[in-house]
Amino acid sequence: MEENSASASTAHVLIFPLPAQGHVNSMLKLAQLLALHNLHVTFLNTEYIHNRLTRFGNIQALSAASYPTLHFKTISDSYTENQHPGFGSSGIKDVFTSLSLYGKPLLREVLASQSAGIPKVSCIIVDGVFGSLATDVAAEFGIQLIHFRTISACCYWAYFCAPRLFETNELPIRGDDDMDRIIKNIPGMENLLRCRDLPSFYREGKEIDKPLSLDSIISMTLQSLEADAFILNTFDDLEGSVLSQIRLHFPKLFTLGPLHHHLNTRKTTSSEHPSNSFKSSLYEVDRSCMTWLDSQAKGSVIYVSFGSTTSMKKEQMMEIWHGLVNSNKRFLWVVRPDTVAGGIEGVAVEVEEGTKERGLIVGWVPQEEVLAHEAVGGFLTHSGWNSTLESVVAGVPMICWPYFADQQVNSRFVSEVWKLGLDMKDVCDRNVVEKMVNELMDGRREEFQRSAKKMALLANKSVSQGGSSHSNLDDLIGFIKSRGRG
Ligand code: UDX
Repeated sequence: MEENSASASTAHVLIFPLPAQGHVNSMLKLAQLLALHNLHVTFLNTEYIHNRLTRFGNIQALSAASYPTLHFKTISDSYTENQHPGFGSSGIKDVFTSLSLYGKPLLREVLASQSAGIPKVSCIIVDGVFGSLATDVAAEFGIQLIHFRTISACCYWAYFCAPRLFETNELPIRGDDDMDRIIKNIPGMENLLRCRDLPSFYREGKEIDKPLSLDSIISMTLQSLEADAFILNTFDDLEGSVLSQIRLHFPKLFTLGPLHHHLNTRKTTSSEHPSNSFKSSLYEVDRSCMTWLDSQAKGSVIYVSFGSTTSMKKEQMMEIWHGLVNSNKRFLWVVRPDTVAGGIEGVAVEVEEGTKERGLIVGWVPQEEVLAHEAVGGFLTHSGWNSTLESVVAGVPMICWPYFADQQVNSRFVSEVWKLGLDMKDVCDRNVVEKMVNELMDGRREEFQRSAKKMALLANKSVSQGGSSHSNLDDLIGFIKSRGRG
């Protein structure tokens, strides 16, 4: 294979993600993929995130021996472990504000500093959520600029079409609006989304803590038009009709997903880069769940996780917990220490008993492995984009309980377009949870499993030799190398 025989390229890519779990995950997969192809890659992290990756993700596994062209650099985010605002939406807002203020000079400093024996940076792949940080800097240094958005294409397109929705008076959504009102003017998704399926930031008067205003979301979305190319972590068979709309505006769009599976596939076909133990985890992984899963019957467990940023009220947690116990199904549930502000007390005896008998609650799991385990038959998820793609690859049907941002759109696509499960958005009721778990795991099990299996095959095809994401990665590497400099 080319990546095994070629010497290191003169191209050098700087990758700069938003410092949050979902963003770091997918951009680090891309970093590894590019380094597998002997491009020099510098992954730029904040100190806080890098320290957590070192403690919990075993970042040492990405050493010079396995990835000689992958380098790590950190910038200060001025937070100590105890001061960090966390990854909830208000925490993300703080991190975002801090980076908007200090990110540009720090980026400039990183680009100006030279490392001996490594070519100068020739390309920046920046997280599109703060793409504006890099626009001037890339121009100053005369280097290529590529934006990467870690959300789905369908959500990106819903953001992109916001100005049109204001023109057609379909936005704003007002407090007293009918949330089932159909949105008609998003090309490629006409009459599919209801108000409630639009990104959460479009909602007015809702108690969702918004990390960003709608105006800034629209401007960051449109800013990607100024980049030399655009990357999305998706695949053509999944989001083809939306992608064909996006391509009308982005002639250089590279769809490379599902990136985690793409990386695993390319690694297994490369003898010099065997799989290693690196996990891009920012939390301490509790592996006891794997032993527990080993003792469960095939397809019997519903896995429950709401990602790294979702926070919920105690009442919501109780409704979900009662619903899971009442469903009589076995469940594995990730509850992070900060999932419920103020913690949980006063759990009903029958819920505790039911959990002891049929459930396991842990702080953080190796999610890709969990979803691939044969005991797992369903996923109750917040519909974060990484979780959605991981479920697609594993062929696991979903119940969606979206929290914020892109998740409202993703869950609509899961239920109505891809037919991979059920959408529980805006409802948190124990009876509904119980009913949906039973529907997913029993009543409509075969129907959902059939479509999940089909989609998993398409995901696999996309990252295999000749597949769309596989070819697009080769094209992206060619595109980056065409501007590489010695
Ligand atoms: C959020 C958004 O929801 C997402 O759509 C956006 O692209 C990035 O920001 P997050 O809420 O963290 O991300 O969800 P998700 O995108 O699903 O990412 C969570 C990641 O954490 C997944 O890769 C998942 O495998 C991992 N995870 C989660 C674990 O490894 N262990 C766990 O216990 C839970």
